Amino acid sequence: MSRTILRGRVLSFHRAPQAIDDAGAYDYLEDAAVVIADGVIVSVADFATADTTDALVIDHRPHLIMAGFIDLHLHYVQSQIMAAYAGSLLEWLNTYTFIEEQKFARQGHADAVAVDFYDALIRHGTTTAVAYCSSHPRSVDAFFAEARRRNMLMIGGKVMMDRNAPDGLCDTAQSGYDDTKALIARWHGRGRGLYAISPRFAITSTPAQMAAAQALVAEHPECYVQTHLSENDAEITYSMELYPDAPDYTGIYEHYGLLGRRTLLGHCIHLNHRETGVLAETGAVAVFCPTSNLFLGSGLFDRERLMTHGVRVGIATDIGGGTSVSMLRTLDEGYKVLQLRGQRLNPFASFHIATLGNAEALGLGETIGSVAPGRTADLVVLDAGATPTMRMRLGTINSLAEELFLLQTIGDDRAIAEVYVAGARAKSTLGGL
Ligand code: GUN
Ligand code: ZN
Repeated sequence: MSRTILRGRVLSFHRAPQAIDDAGAYDYLEDAAVVIADGVIVSVADFATADTTDALVIDHRPHLIMAGFIDLHLHYVQSQIMAAYAGSLLEWLNTYTFIEEQKFARQGHADAVAVDFYDALIRHGTTTAVAYCSSHPRSVDAFFAEARRRNMLMIGGKVMMDRNAPDGLCDTAQSGYDDTKALIARWHGRGRGLYAISPRFAITSTPAQMAAAQALVAEHPECYVQTHLSENDAEITYSMELYPDAPDYTGIYEHYGLLGRRTLLGHCIHLNHRETGVLAETGAVAVFCPTSNLFLGSGLFDRERLMTHGVRVGIATDIGGGTSVSMLRTLDEGYKVLQLRGQRLNPFASFHIATLGNAEALGLGETIGSVAPGRTADLVVLDAGATPTMRMRLGTINSLAEELFLLQTIGDDRAIAEVYVAGARAKSTLGGL
């Protein structure tokens, strides 16, 4: 069996850090050997103790090896409308998003965007993402086929939407059900692909479609569920008009049985006390999308309140409402949002969320999200001195916490020195696929 050994500094979490000095939450090795065979991490130990016989040794010193970043919510079909000049969510959806997503009726378009999208993920150090495709099944085929070609663990699904959008984007309750069913059969568990049943949000799904989504969730408990919840005031008001019997926005999804430990709810900014309790009880995950929330002026996510009530929380870019593919940029904006809430997110907690935290939100903490034996070798190699500005600042730094904070505060794709997907170099080989 051929072995690869990555040499470098290694940081890996085994639980959420409670404070900046909570060193028990992670392992940090100054000079480590990450031994990989067949795409899986076999051991992580001091390099001095490693058996390098017959192994390919790749020396990444002085860089920092971590688990690849995980993005819990994005729209790959919006890759080309980032930075669209819109005031707020519903205007942005109607003016740009619903126009753009109609292009995915063409297979050639979906295939080309999927290639660019995965290139961008890899350039930014993201090795797993949970994505909305468009309502067209072919956009899902392009998404999973390209992931498979690259051997990436990707989760996604066809958006279900049967009203309040252009005809070119709307399915029906029946076709949304049939298409989703066929796509689950085609892609869930194929390669590293996993399916997410994806009713877009209450505004674009009729009660009949919500019932169809409910049936799909009951028939496919192995699949994820993703939707949007409580992002924007006008969205909430309109949702309550469309579902007048619901006690609140969360109550709509609750009524249709869509909430559980495999449910990812984008945004969750304006939840009332009852809604917070329902999320905590059901184990649904509230997904913080800071760059998007600031860009669309949606509001400030209240991480502390949600976590205090026992809600599971993850973090994501929300491309293309979000303004960067980079999880480093996302952690930075997340830090700033929480600052405005009077909450501090320490750098260890930040990097934990973007790796093991998000992996555990997906129930995949045994597979990805840490640099540990038995985990797939989906890794990122970080260079905190990647730019002249970073190098200058790095010269003044003398702790790991400060280095992480530098990476998240001014780092971007230039700080991603290398990426490994299932043990194979992915960044330096881009374009060579
Ligand atoms: N709510 C429903 N659809 C979308 C979307 O595409 N982006 C965001 N940010 N919110 C949504
Ligand atoms: Zn979204």
